[in-house]
Amino acid sequence: MIVAIDGPAGAGKSTISRLIAGRHDWTYLDTGAMYRAVTLLALEQGIAPADGEELGLLARNAEIGFQPGPDGSPQVFAGCRDVTEEIRGRDVSACVSEVSAHRSVREALVEKQRSIAAAGDVVMDGRDIGTVVCPGADVKIFLTAANRERARRRRLELAQKGVEVSQEQMERDIAARDDYDSRRELAPLKAAAGAVIIDTTNMTIEQVVDRVSGIVEKQLK
Ligand code: DC
Repeated sequence: MIVAIDGPAGAGKSTISRLIAGRHDWTYLDTGAMYRAVTLLALEQGIAPADGEELGLLARNAEIGFQPGPDGSPQVFAGCRDVTEEIRGRDVSACVSEVSAHRSVREALVEKQRSIAAAGDVVMDGRDIGTVVCPGADVKIFLTAANRERARRRRLELAQKGVEVSQEQMERDIAARDDYDSRRELAPLKAAAGAVIIDTTNMTIEQVVDRVSGIVEKQLK
């Protein structure tokens, strides 16, 4: 079973994907974390976000992996280094859209994503899972929510880590990233044909999980 969950930043994709994967004991793959890890390494190595050639080499050679942490949430590794926290920083968030728009980077990471999907029973979240990475996915969901609400959720997430960002700033950051991700030439953010679109603005996490689970269960029968 392959479940593809796409949508803009802060729509709840990773929370919902993790819970759905946990319910069935399936693999959860956060593809955004892979683009973020490449972006972090590029920033550290002084590779410009516009340098598609170097970024492609970096993405191809990067050993990005996932392991469950002490509380069961996935930790992200670049080689043997835990980069889970660092990839969520503002520097990475500010550059990841530009880095992920390069064909060289996408080709390298999509290949890795498809080989994980080939093992089966996986919930993958991203921007292009239902459209490009796994167009044959058994279930395709497009999660969205009002920009204001998505910014509120991201602020809460960051506040829990001690990072304060104003609501206005967060709305601007999210809108800029969505705009870039939606307008890029390759694999732009959009709902796949046949995807169920769920607007989570006024829904609790439990309600969204129930809705998605219902769709998955139907497919399993
Ligand atoms: O899901 P996220 O916010 O962590 O993703 C970070 C960025 O990575 C996102 O702004 C665009 C890029 N991305 C992508 O291009 N394709 C994916 N499948 C997942 C993420």
